[in-house]
Amino acid sequence: MSLYRSFLLLLCCVYVVFSGANASDTITSSEPVRDSETVFSSGKTFKLGFFSPGNSANRYVGIMFNLPSPTPTAVWVANRDKPINDSSGLLTLSEDGNLVILNGQKEIIWSSSISNSMKNSTAQLLDTGNLVLKDSSNGKVLWESFQYPTKYPTDSILQLMKMGIDKSTNTTALLKTWRSPDDPSVGSFSAGIQLQYIPQAFIWNNTAPYWRSSPWDKQIYIGLPEMKSSYHSGVDLVSDNAGTAYQTYSNGNHPWILYYSLNSTGSYQEKVWDQSKKDWMVTWANPRSECDLYVK
Ligand SMILES: *[C@@H]1O[C@H](CO)[C@@H](O)[C@H](O)[C@H]1NC(C)=O
Ligand SMILES: *[C@@H]1O[C@H](CO)[C@@H](O)[C@H](O)[C@H]1NC(C)=O
Ligand SMILES: *[C@@H]1O[C@H](CO)[C@@H](O)[C@H](O)[C@H]1NC(C)=O
Ligand SMILES: *[C@@H]1O[C@H](CO)[C@@H](O)[C@H](O)[C@H]1NC(C)=O
Ligand SMILES: *[C@@H]1O[C@H](CO)[C@@H](O)[C@H](O)[C@H]1NC(C)=O
Repeated sequence: MSLYRSFLLLLCCVYVVFSGANASDTITSSEPVRDSETVFSSGKTFKLGFFSPGNSANRYVGIMFNLPSPTPTAVWVANRDKPINDSSGLLTLSEDGNLVILNGQKEIIWSSSISNSMKNSTAQLLDTGNLVLKDSSNGKVLWESFQYPTKYPTDSILQLMKMGIDKSTNTTALLKTWRSPDDPSVGSFSAGIQLQYIPQAFIWNNTAPYWRSSPWDKQIYIGLPEMKSSYHSGVDLVSDNAGTAYQTYSNGNHPWILYYSLNSTGSYQEKVWDQSKKDWMVTWANPRSECDLYVK
């Protein structure tokens, strides 16, 4: 073997050892995800794996933007209320087809909780940031992290995700805050759509209304005229006038990376990735001031 080829081979090995990457965007029972491993979506926009938020040492499974930010930007956390305290966690598929997180004692810490009989399934991280569990025999979707309404609320909205109220199932899909930047367990603030006469976006602190958007008028929330311009032009509210209404957004063909999230102190924020600073900038946030608040 030539020196050059040995060198190339060495480079390859170094890459494989240090990246800890799962070769594909798919999780199967024979290709589970260990604590040290990361699954990347096909276009490398998102990644999935174990992480520790902020100053915490706890381990959580999250879907994160694949960006060089100082701290991982998790947009969805599976075991948000049940951390693992060491690096023995495993994300895999159980014999009944559920996506599960096991701890070192092989106890189930979290499960996608589909109540189905035995199924061979695979989970795939899509480039939209949606984690999709499918029946391998027919490709049918059994569960997805974008599920609407969901049992596993997150604090962030990505494109194509829905936040709102669905009368047919009598459920409200809410954003639920983290307790603190170090702790993704469910905090006191939530955000969603409420239908009175006209749909409005609300933020609640526990059960008390904390902020509301003012009614939606076909293109914007009336009280938020700035929504007509700049980044937020892709926000839409879909209502069937029969008790179902949800908000969603699209980036269109814009080059920026943008998402919305409700931070742990109840601020609903629009964030755009700033490549030069390698960090997120908040381009819009509500409530804007004390006098915006519902009960003051
Ligand atoms: C970590 O979690 C395991 C399983 O829940 C438990 O048995 C163990 O005592 C914990 N260790 C520490 C240091 O808290
Ligand atoms: C799942 O796949 C395995 C291996 O391909 C096969 O032996 C088994 O019968 C399948 N189980 C079901 C329920 O389809
Ligand atoms: C929907 O939820 C409300 C409030 O919890 C309840 O009063 C009502 O009976 C529910 N309706 C249906 C169809 O389940
Ligand atoms: C949120 O509500 C709790 C009580 O439920 C209260 O103690 C806290 O001060 C409220 N936070 C804000 C920012 O209003
Ligand atoms: C949430 O966002 C608001 C407004 O940008 C900011 O003042 C606050 O410090 C943030 N909270 C946390 C915990 O970062």
